[in-house]
Amino acid sequence: MKIVFIGDIVGSVGRNAVKTMVPKLKLKYANAVFIANGENAAGGRGITSQITKELYQLGIHGITLGNHTWDQKEIFDFIDDEVQMVRPANFPEGAPGRGHTVLKVRNQEILLINLQGRTFLPPIDCPFRKVDEILEAAKGKYKHIFVDFHAETTSEKIAMGWHLDGRVSAVVGTHTHVQTNDNRVLPQGTAYVTDVGMVGPRDGVLGMERTAVLRKFTTQLPVRFVVDEGQWHFHATVIDLDDTTGKAGKIELIRINEEDLLFE
Ligand SMILES: [Fe+2]
Ligand SMILES: [Fe+2]
Repeated sequence: MKIVFIGDIVGSVGRNAVKTMVPKLKLKYANAVFIANGENAAGGRGITSQITKELYQLGIHGITLGNHTWDQKEIFDFIDDEVQMVRPANFPEGAPGRGHTVLKVRNQEILLINLQGRTFLPPIDCPFRKVDEILEAAKGKYKHIFVDFHAETTSEKIAMGWHLDGRVSAVVGTHTHVQTNDNRVLPQGTAYVTDVGMVGPRDGVLGMERTAVLRKFTTQLPVRFVVDEGQWHFHATVIDLDDTTGKAGKIELIRINEEDLLFE
């Protein structure tokens, strides 16, 4: 099994990048399972039902979320029905939606889990104990298990990689919007990268228009951030899994700028 995982999609610029890049990646990786983080897809904050449908139409099989899950009010109307969408599993008991799901793609099954870190993020349940619970309940049922760990600090994400090494196929980080260069297969066969990066405006600050962010940093006054416009960059990862064992063979990174396409 091959998995293409796309980092946090930010606003309309990010969605346009996905519209351009996913068909190209589908040509290259025809049989891959496509998963994307959609927590910033609607104007940088959350996701709507319409955008969810657009992503599925492009051939995205599964959507993960994060700390922006609840930013669009309408999420409460559709998240329970979206079986291919996961929000962090360690949100407190009773939260709408689901924290893990089974994607069925061309007779293959993959257990998709979303978790959120607790360092420099709002207090929620323990992601380490929560994932143990999920894996215990799923024991022996799934070969291919994919975890999106949505967290701020490199240390918490690296710790999660070690916590899950040999127990899941892949642990990839999201949330910082900055791709890290530490992709590797851990000793027990789990593909790992601290952060996949983002898909959206390249010349802002993590996707936000930069003059507003600079005003905030220089004045410490309340400032309203908006999603930046202009050229996009597209960050993703491609992971190869052994069909018999579910273990990872390799993990590669994708980093493409909109202007790179001019030279195709
Ligand atoms: Fe994000
Ligand atoms: Fe986030």
